[in-house]
Amino acid sequence: TSTSEPVRLEDWVRDIPDFPQKGVLFKDITPLLQDPKAFHVAMDRLAAHYAGAGIEAVVGVESRGFIFGAPLAYLLNCGFVPVRKFGKLPSSTVSVEYALEYGTNVVELHTDAIKPGQRVLIVDDLLATGGTVSASIELVEKMGGHIAGIAFLVELSFLKGRERLEGHDVFALIQY
Ligand code: PRP
Ligand code: MG
Repeated sequence: TSTSEPVRLEDWVRDIPDFPQKGVLFKDITPLLQDPKAFHVAMDRLAAHYAGAGIEAVVGVESRGFIFGAPLAYLLNCGFVPVRKFGKLPSSTVSVEYALEYGTNVVELHTDAIKPGQRVLIVDDLLATGGTVSASIELVEKMGGHIAGIAFLVELSFLKGRERLEGHDVFALIQY
């Protein structure tokens, strides 16, 4: 194939039936990560989308949000801030509890990680119901940060997570 053909990122996302449980079609992004060209193109497209947007901090959501959040912060020349699962951050934190399909989960943010008024970009690999990212929004807003954008590699549109993020600027490289 020609080297000048544009990369179709969806070609690098693989369907895994019945994972993690029966009836779920899992979107596996590891082929994209393993391919140097596809990963490079994905990062460059994300960075291009936010060039000139005045992003001052990138918040990545543990764990898969770290994979895209850290290189995006690097490309946008700003700092990277981790939102972590409960009990992992060593200094003073704010916490938010959110609902999973079964039970709840708690995510945390260091209280000194976001400054009031700071323009924050939240990054995660995938938007499903929007529960995870909503919790991250709450954390950033608790610290007075301004959510300038929310970026995903993949959006599962049929789960309507975007509706839950109404009022925010949501961008996804791949939509299903
Ligand atoms: C997955 C995925 C997103 C979230 C999307 O994370 O990486 O963060 O679920 O689902 P939602 O929109 O319904 O909240 P998961 O909790 O499986 O953990 P991981 O990133 O540590 O693998
Ligand atoms: Mg995740």
